[in-house]
Amino acid sequence: MRQGVVVPQLRADSAADVSRILRAARAAGADRSFLARAEAQLPRLHDLFRRLYGERTDGVERLASVVDLARRSWAERPAELRALDDARAADPTWFESERMLGGVCYVDRYAGGLRGIRDQIPYFRELGLSYVHLMPLFESPEGNSDGGYAVSSYRRVNPRLGTMAELAELAGEFRRAGISLVVDFIFNHTSNEHEWAQKAVAGVPGYEDFYLIFPDRTMPDAYERTTREIFPDDHPGSFVQLPDGRWIWATFYHFQWDLNYAEPAVFEAMAGEMLFLANQGVEVLRMDAVAFIWKQLGTACESLPEAHLLLQAFNAVLAMAAPGLLFKSEAIVHPDEVVSYISPEECQISYNPLQMALTWEALATRDGRLLQQALERRHTLPAGTAWVNYVRSHDDIGWTFADEDAAELGIEGYPHRRFLNDFYVGRHDGTFARGVPFQENPRTGDARVTGTTASLAGIEAGDAGGEDRVVLAHALALSTGGIPLLYLGDEVAQLNDYSYADDPHEAGDSRWVHRPHRPAQNYADRRDAATPAGRVFSRLARLIAVRRETREFAGNTLIGFGTPVASVVGFLRPGAGSAVLVLANVADGAVHVDALTLSGLEPDAVDLVSGEEIGVAGGLDIPAHGVLWLRVTLR
Ligand code: GLC
Repeated sequence: MRQGVVVPQLRADSAADVSRILRAARAAGADRSFLARAEAQLPRLHDLFRRLYGERTDGVERLASVVDLARRSWAERPAELRALDDARAADPTWFESERMLGGVCYVDRYAGGLRGIRDQIPYFRELGLSYVHLMPLFESPEGNSDGGYAVSSYRRVNPRLGTMAELAELAGEFRRAGISLVVDFIFNHTSNEHEWAQKAVAGVPGYEDFYLIFPDRTMPDAYERTTREIFPDDHPGSFVQLPDGRWIWATFYHFQWDLNYAEPAVFEAMAGEMLFLANQGVEVLRMDAVAFIWKQLGTACESLPEAHLLLQAFNAVLAMAAPGLLFKSEAIVHPDEVVSYISPEECQISYNPLQMALTWEALATRDGRLLQQALERRHTLPAGTAWVNYVRSHDDIGWTFADEDAAELGIEGYPHRRFLNDFYVGRHDGTFARGVPFQENPRTGDARVTGTTASLAGIEAGDAGGEDRVVLAHALALSTGGIPLLYLGDEVAQLNDYSYADDPHEAGDSRWVHRPHRPAQNYADRRDAATPAGRVFSRLARLIAVRRETREFAGNTLIGFGTPVASVVGFLRPGAGSAVLVLANVADGAVHVDALTLSGLEPDAVDLVSGEEIGVAGGLDIPAHGVLWLRVTLR
């Protein structure tokens, strides 16, 4: 190297840095399996660090200290979890199985606390769950905490729900029952009560740059020229003012302060919290709000390239210290961006907001074409990854389809979204839906929709098609591939709960309308065919049972099966020597799919749901809101 040239801290040629860090790990007593994984991951982690923190003089030191953190975390990893890591390595596509089924619930609302959740394990098994997402359960501010999405400590469970020791115990009990514990990794922001937040505001050395704090409006104004408002009901723009007059970045609620990942100490601190959770027995981390984690002036500050680099860096750390875990991406953005987070090196699984939103779109319009197009065009994923398909979540429904896709079908994005919002909040004549608007922005005309599945689908309004629509929406989520995820309570047709409006901490956030307490009566009725709960539950239970036995439903391969009937969504799930044909009719009347459309199939098929053989040579009748799962043979 020439004299006088400044040596960048993280060199493009990583070999020297990597071997120095590995030597240090060996000297510190790292075992062979850790060293092997560190050796495999370090070149890429080094490269990611160089791209993120190449300008920093402390880049190499930070990298070395992150690797040391991983070494210590591995040393403490319980034997049972190391055994899990081995099992996952031996069966890397475990999460693509047709036997995977997820459920999600709030700990307090569904079961009072972690002990109550343990008491639900027999029911989770009855339902066939293999994955349970417990909504945020960490210490968070009293009153409004955005449903726990404002975290004050990642190492303490909210005392109302239980303790961290109980969570670790529950993770073990889940595992022995064949259920993976999923929790949120809320790493874009902390609550304003988090120790880091308090220290940052107080100017404690080492913490000043953990958040984005500015003395006046100059920088906030500059950033806000290109950022969008996420919770306009709470505050305009992306910043809130501190009592001392300064401004701090807060994308969501005013008490959720965004972390500053341009500071490598923040990455290291968060990696520590991630590994701590991994060692409690968590098997999937739901990576919250991934699109927002990197900011750059002059951009929308969403889904920037560095957001991907950061996720990949967290992934590499995990691969060293807790290799059995998965990341699930929560990116509720344009479909091109959603898929950009999904790869074995970044997030292995991801919510599928497009399929979710377009299922509702199809039910409202009685036209399946946008959903059909999305399944044909946007369903494919890289090997080793999977969608998480859901009918609704704890959040609002946003109409995240691509305008350019819709335009091809002659649909204009803006008015179509307006129609869908009006339809689902009951402002449209003859609507079957009973939803509530969320974050309506009069300035932009934007809004989103909240409501339980049963209320949105028409059961609350007494619409004759309500139960069928609930079943249809789930039948799609259960058959398109990946991990279907049920919002617990929906399987027994739970309706909206409007009492949130009387609670001062919830009244301003209509998402609470669809986060009710566990509906004890509906569950008690689940075997009673005289009730909506009983009818919906028995039909969904049948679909779940059939899915488990249908090997074609594993994985993600899906081939569109277009029909001339606009209200029919059709696709094939191919298997070895056979395939399952799924046909769903979103219209309010029966339709006929003609013989010609089915002429590529052998005449004999099996209706998997009824178990009966049926002929397809003369075409097929599909009732109003009906779904067929047929095992067919291609000619
Ligand atoms: C995610 C959560 C949502 C929360 C937000 C901020 O989008 O799903 O409920 O409000 O992140 O943490």
